[in-house]
Amino acid sequence: MKLPTSHLAPGMRLARPVYGTKGEKLLNQGVELTDAYIKALRRRGVLAVCVGDPNDQFYENVLAEEIRINAMEAVRSWVENSAQKKNLKQVIESVEAIVEEILAGKYCVSGLTEICTTDAYTYMHSVDVCVLSLTVGVELRFAKKGLIRLGTGSILHDLGKTRIPLEILNKPGRLTAEEFAEIKKHPVLGYEMLLSKTNEIDSETASIVLDHHERYDGSGYPRGLRGEDIGIMPAICAISDVYNAITTDRVYRKAFPPYEAYELLMGSGNTMFDADVVNTFLLCISPYPIGSLVRLSNGLIARVIKTRKNQPFRPIIGLLDANQKNGELDLMKENNIVITGVVDPNEACAIIAK
Ligand SMILES: [Fe+2]
Repeated sequence: MKLPTSHLAPGMRLARPVYGTKGEKLLNQGVELTDAYIKALRRRGVLAVCVGDPNDQFYENVLAEEIRINAMEAVRSWVENSAQKKNLKQVIESVEAIVEEILAGKYCVSGLTEICTTDAYTYMHSVDVCVLSLTVGVELRFAKKGLIRLGTGSILHDLGKTRIPLEILNKPGRLTAEEFAEIKKHPVLGYEMLLSKTNEIDSETASIVLDHHERYDGSGYPRGLRGEDIGIMPAICAISDVYNAITTDRVYRKAFPPYEAYELLMGSGNTMFDADVVNTFLLCISPYPIGSLVRLSNGLIARVIKTRKNQPFRPIIGLLDANQKNGELDLMKENNIVITGVVDPNEACAIIAK
């Protein structure tokens, strides 16, 4: 499971490799953490890592790390190295690779951004938003061409943030009105960058960059669009962006656990987002993603083994209590047991270390 580096303890094993800001591998999967490793991870700004048994089935369904890193690098190199006009070939190819993975059903949305460093946040976040948007696009049966546009616009949605000073983007405290006004410029800045850096952008991809902060009730920016005036693609990117942002730790606030983020989105239909888009999005995520440690109404603790699309609150779980003989439980068949909450990271560390 994903744990913040502040909660790591010597002896835990890495279930997934840890990458640095440029995609370089810092530590291999399976490595046993020592005090020195933990200090080094914190020093390098790594916010969270995945710990547990690397052979666990829980980690099989995550987007291949090379594909994620390639996508991140393609975007970074396009943004940082193209002084003159340059085509988006590499970015689009990396999006195609993600589309192929999702269409092949190799991937399920759980454990996005297990490994996130403070300065790599923008690029990691971009890839995660792209994956989330594409999952929704597949659910809505978009054709491949549409998926590639949706993925490309989503991976580039925050392009304009590269023009906003880092001290504003990463400010730990509350933003002043002037600072917030600066941040609100990023959709237009990104849209202009996209048009000026490439000749071949289609209007749908570009609209995602421009309109991903528009809100269904008209409260968004930069144009204050309302309802159906917001295209389906920017609407999908907007909800993916919000979900990913609130479920990731940032310098200025802690991440919401997935079940709280799920609940927040449940209440956002036809206010922040189009209700149909919200309903489709909720089919693609889980309040208790695979690998979550949950507390049950019978006092036991369990790990989520399998999630259900249409019954998100009734997953299949594995009991962690040593005295329990039948380890696996299908909550669809257990009408008298409910999940009452998730185990906090401190307690989870103790359980994993056992
Ligand atoms: Fe944005």
